[in-house]
Amino acid sequence: MFNYVDPFGRHHTYLRIAITEKCNLRCVYCMPEEGVELSPPAKLLTADEIVKIASLFAQHGVDKIRLTGERLSNIPGISQVAMTSNGIALSRKLEDFVKAGLNKLNISLDTLDEHKYQIITRRNGFKKVMQLIDMAEPMFNPLKINCVVMRGTNDNEICDFVALTEKKNLDIRFIEYMPFGGNNFNSNKMVPYKEMLNRIGTKWSEVIRLIDHPNDTSKAYKVHGFQGQFGFITSMSEHFCNTCNRLRMTADGNLKVCLHGNAEVSLRDIIRQGGSDKELIDVIAKAVGRKKKQHAGMENLIKMTNRPMILIGG
Ligand code: GTP
Ligand code: 5AD
Ligand code: SF4
Repeated sequence: MFNYVDPFGRHHTYLRIAITEKCNLRCVYCMPEEGVELSPPAKLLTADEIVKIASLFAQHGVDKIRLTGERLSNIPGISQVAMTSNGIALSRKLEDFVKAGLNKLNISLDTLDEHKYQIITRRNGFKKVMQLIDMAEPMFNPLKINCVVMRGTNDNEICDFVALTEKKNLDIRFIEYMPFGGNNFNSNKMVPYKEMLNRIGTKWSEVIRLIDHPNDTSKAYKVHGFQGQFGFITSMSEHFCNTCNRLRMTADGNLKVCLHGNAEVSLRDIIRQGGSDKELIDVIAKAVGRKKKQHAGMENLIKMTNRPMILIGG
């Protein structure tokens, strides 16, 4: 079996598939207030195309997919079906998704204050997400919460989030605010993880560094005696490109070998032009072969042009 290994020896075993460009929120760090121009529906991958592409990747070493969907969890070789969601519309569907094979869930929540939620997401929905988190917490081990930290907006809540882990089996991941197309990034608003860690260490004296799994995006910690844990996703202050195992498919069918790189190649076009599996595999292997050693890191990212996060999918 040929695996997607790049010139830096990184094995790409994790495929992130965006299944939609639409969102019921308008988070300030993700997209402009007016939203973004959506692709015409005919340009989006169909469910069959997604399954075809996912199967091809699974034949070449991918064992983890992040999104939703029954048919994907049935693909031989796929052991982890994960999803990242804002949680707004998930309550009613969650049990069905779990029955269909979903075994990891990450929910975005940037504040514990309803009014601030409305400012950050430009929409309502705080109560729905909190209910979803209560419902999902016992179902996942652990349920992960993604919290994008922005100075002057929600950085005063870091310890409140950590306090949630005392009695709940949550993994709260504080994400350094990153620049993407259309998000008006301002580097003064980015809080480096060491600063966050210092603040947590001031409140709790026994903060323990945990062991990370090999390809984790986050550095894991916990407060001694607490049930849950927390972590930091440090793309800006301390990038983790050296352990990257991730490839991405955008909803409109482009393969992106790096979240922050704007080199893209359309697998959709190859499929729709009747290309063979071999052609697809070659194009994927070439794209992976061109993957740069590093894209993340503050100095690189402030110069990058990229899609808005909403059109990448996460
Ligand atoms: P797990 O599979 O649970 O570890 O999730 P994850 O961290 O891979 O995915 P999630 O969708 O929860 O993303 C959390 C944050 O990590 C988001 O802000 C992502 O954009 C960021 N992230 C995910 N993959 C990459 C990556 O390849 N590079 C960088 N720099 N950041 C990433
Ligand atoms: N900086 C950091 N994280 C971001 N996310 C979206 N936009 C940004 C950004 N500009 C996070 C979302 C979601 C995850 C997939 O990416 O909060 O949890
Ligand atoms: Fe917010 Fe995610 Fe929707 Fe972007 S896609 S607006 S980060 S909920």
